[in-house]
Amino acid sequence: MSALTRSPAWQALQAHQHALARHHLREWFAADPARAQRFTLSAAGITADFSKHRTDGRALDLLHALARQQDVEGWRDRMLRGDAVNATETRAALHTALRRAPSTPLRVAGEDVMPPIAEVLARMRAFCTAVRSGERTGHTGARFTDVVNLGIGGSDLGPAMVTEALAPYGSPALRVHYVSNVDAADLAPRLARLDASTTLFVICSKTFTTIETMTNAASARDWLVGALGAPEAVGAHFVAVSTNLEATRAFGIAPDNVFGFRDWVGGRYSLWSPVGLSTMLAIGPEAFDALLAGARAMDEHFARAPLEANLPVRVGLLGVWYANFFGAHTHAVLPYDQRLRRLPDHLQQLEMESNGKSVDRDGRRVDYATCPVIWGSPGTNGQHAFYQLLHQGTQLIPSDFLIVREPHHALVQHHRLLIANCLAQTEALAFGKTAAQARAELSARGIDGARLELLAANQTFPGNQPSTTFVLDRLDPASVGALVAMYEHKVLVQSAIWNINPFDQWGVELGKTLAMRLGVWLEPGAARPDTATAPGLDASTRALIDRLRS
Ligand code: F6P
Repeated sequence: MSALTRSPAWQALQAHQHALARHHLREWFAADPARAQRFTLSAAGITADFSKHRTDGRALDLLHALARQQDVEGWRDRMLRGDAVNATETRAALHTALRRAPSTPLRVAGEDVMPPIAEVLARMRAFCTAVRSGERTGHTGARFTDVVNLGIGGSDLGPAMVTEALAPYGSPALRVHYVSNVDAADLAPRLARLDASTTLFVICSKTFTTIETMTNAASARDWLVGALGAPEAVGAHFVAVSTNLEATRAFGIAPDNVFGFRDWVGGRYSLWSPVGLSTMLAIGPEAFDALLAGARAMDEHFARAPLEANLPVRVGLLGVWYANFFGAHTHAVLPYDQRLRRLPDHLQQLEMESNGKSVDRDGRRVDYATCPVIWGSPGTNGQHAFYQLLHQGTQLIPSDFLIVREPHHALVQHHRLLIANCLAQTEALAFGKTAAQARAELSARGIDGARLELLAANQTFPGNQPSTTFVLDRLDPASVGALVAMYEHKVLVQSAIWNINPFDQWGVELGKTLAMRLGVWLEPGAARPDTATAPGLDASTRALIDRLRS
């Protein structure tokens, strides 16, 4: 047994879960009319109703004791002040510095990290203003109408999600596209619809070695040079976002067109850095500043609020409660706002790449569950697809429902229905429908006997499915910033409980190495080697390669 599962806080939670497991949310709500108020927290413009969770006051007390035992506050403080919390890569994880008030110095290893952050932000602002105003043009002097962000993972998901969430802040005069997949079915049709003379490419890659991004960048460069008939046009149409200045120079991008950042910004935490350049091009520097300010408000709350009133802490601890004490394997993210359509994708990388680990900080195998599978899609679409399983399946699946009070559109009838659906789902999941209620309804419709029993069994909803309802007043830059920062801190809280490093991602390396090796066997033309001579190629992969080559 690990020290964690042996620990008093863990054992106490296990015992309490056994006592609570037989209780139903129906009973708790009936017994406590103030439950909704008691279990609601607010911070940085986000209100979260946690009352539909299978917790009582004691469960929360025990979860807070676990957080103290696992030094959540210590890990938080060490991360925020720039200690090397990413031990395997011996570096800090300082994404919070990117949204810190510029006037507050932050010294890391003797250096104030704030001036270079302010400097690159100022360059981003100047660049975006020049592109958006038409002052900065393409090679032919034509104004840019389209931006194509070439990046993958953290260099795509976060920026793309925020750009879509904040589409009302965009300008119709500048469309921003995101291309990530090495499958040219992503890039080719997009290029086919664009005019090279008015297209700006942002090559976004922290390392500038990621094969998908570099392949897309090379094809985009060929397309541009071919279309404009001028190799020198690359300078006007390509900018880069990277920590690897040597590689950006080798690609042909002048240092003036490179927006750099430091290696202590992790890919999935990087949308606040120059990785957000395409987002800033889309929504403008002012809205980007408001995005940073929203995240900063959440950071300040996370840093200062006591554990008991701390929103990201509560979100993280409830995830632990279900993953470790109820055996939940997955967690659903269900935004009732079409513009948050890509939030589940971003959170998949943020949470699963961070906490999808099975060795602890000391390299020992863990004997407890870590990150659950994060998944989801926007309401109301999901209701007509997978909600059946949430309501009547065999698994406990905690979920996050997100709603926005004021829409950006004028179709109030749509919004009323959207909100009604969101609330109805959380209500149905929590309270369900008893067999007695189902029987009474069927009997009132004149159904009886064996048919009544059959239908009653099918029309009973067990309920007791936990959910949080997050309410945002508006989907604006500040609230989106606060929301994403809240989930980032959730990851830190859970990593502290699970005693794992959330800032590395060794699990993605093996596949990358193998793909490079296998590429040789898939070269077109007669010169490619015979797979029979391939050392160490397993029989399944060999057969698949032969099939694909034939
Ligand atoms: O393969 C995983 C990963 O390293 C992510 O962590 C990262 O966000 C993504 O690849 C892209 O990396 P880069 O920005 O260096 O191209």
